[in-house]
Amino acid sequence: MSAEKITFIGAGNMASSLVRGLLASGVGAAQLCASDPAAAQLAELKGTGIATTDSNDTAVAGADVVVIAVKPQVLGAVLRDLSTLQPGQLLLSIAAGVPLASLAAWTCATQPIIRCMPNTPALVGAGMTALYANAAVTGAQRDLAEKIMAAAGKTLWVADEGALDAVTAISGSGPAYYFYLMEAMVEAGIELGLDRESATTLTLETAYGAALMARGSATAPAQLRENVTSPGGTTAAALSVFDAADTRQIIKNALHGAADRSRELAKEFGTP
Ligand SMILES: NC(=O)c1ccc[n+]([C@@H]2O[C@H](COP(=O)([O-])OP(=O)(O)OC[C@H]3O[C@@H](n4cnc5c(N)ncnc54)[C@H](OP(=O)(O)O)[C@@H]3O)[C@@H](O)[C@H]2O)c1
Repeated sequence: MSAEKITFIGAGNMASSLVRGLLASGVGAAQLCASDPAAAQLAELKGTGIATTDSNDTAVAGADVVVIAVKPQVLGAVLRDLSTLQPGQLLLSIAAGVPLASLAAWTCATQPIIRCMPNTPALVGAGMTALYANAAVTGAQRDLAEKIMAAAGKTLWVADEGALDAVTAISGSGPAYYFYLMEAMVEAGIELGLDRESATTLTLETAYGAALMARGSATAPAQLRENVTSPGGTTAAALSVFDAADTRQIIKNALHGAADRSRELAKEFGTP
């Protein structure tokens, strides 16, 4: 990445992961800055050599991109209070559920703004982030935003803002669905006579292996599942229980529920 200055407002979990990812990818500490009123958060990031400040205005001055990494509930106040943000500076919001129209209302109608939806595995460099840019964003700014979010995993551009509700339902909330399945598998393992540690190891390594197989293969998940399901076998016995309970439809209903909630939150967190 060339020498763009990248500032983070809010130095919590997400910002720390992105900063560490950027440093690991070769971005110089002198290019990075973070602001946060919490001295403890800043103390942790100070050790990385980046600039830190408790003043958001100081952090924003001279930055090419301002990454907004505060909770959605405080975002409006944070942006309205900024007095140093210039109309050409790229705003990159990772706050879940806050619509572009609100971000523009709290800054400037022509502000270049990109809205991102990352997920928790970003904290371990295996995130999945979807991005959506408004019309004021230049090609170079899109590239820069993509490089920043790629420091925490994979990226994907979506063509319309509404798609971010579907993204939230799939990848945003998705890690919890897999954790839920893991919990149930561990419990079943214990019921079947394994100790918790063994049941957990078997479950987690299986989840990891299945994800690696599905990710590294051109074969669709449906085919991968069929490949390991012999007629009359053990996998078929388990899957027939899922089918009898209409688990596929239950999962779809759950994701529709998540997307509906995402749309509601946009209203709650949006303007004024
Ligand atoms: N974590 C995830 O997996 C994830 C996934 C998707 C999206 N996101 C989004 O990412 C954003 C950050 O999440 P996070 O998990 O990193 O949250 P976090 O750990 O709570 O970090 C937010 C930081 O912002 C600080 N802050 C509060 N008010 C501020 C202000 N006025 N100026 C500057 N900093 C301020 C907070 O300080 P205090 O603690 O003192 O309030 C905290 O250190 C959220 O909007 C969330 O929706 C996170």
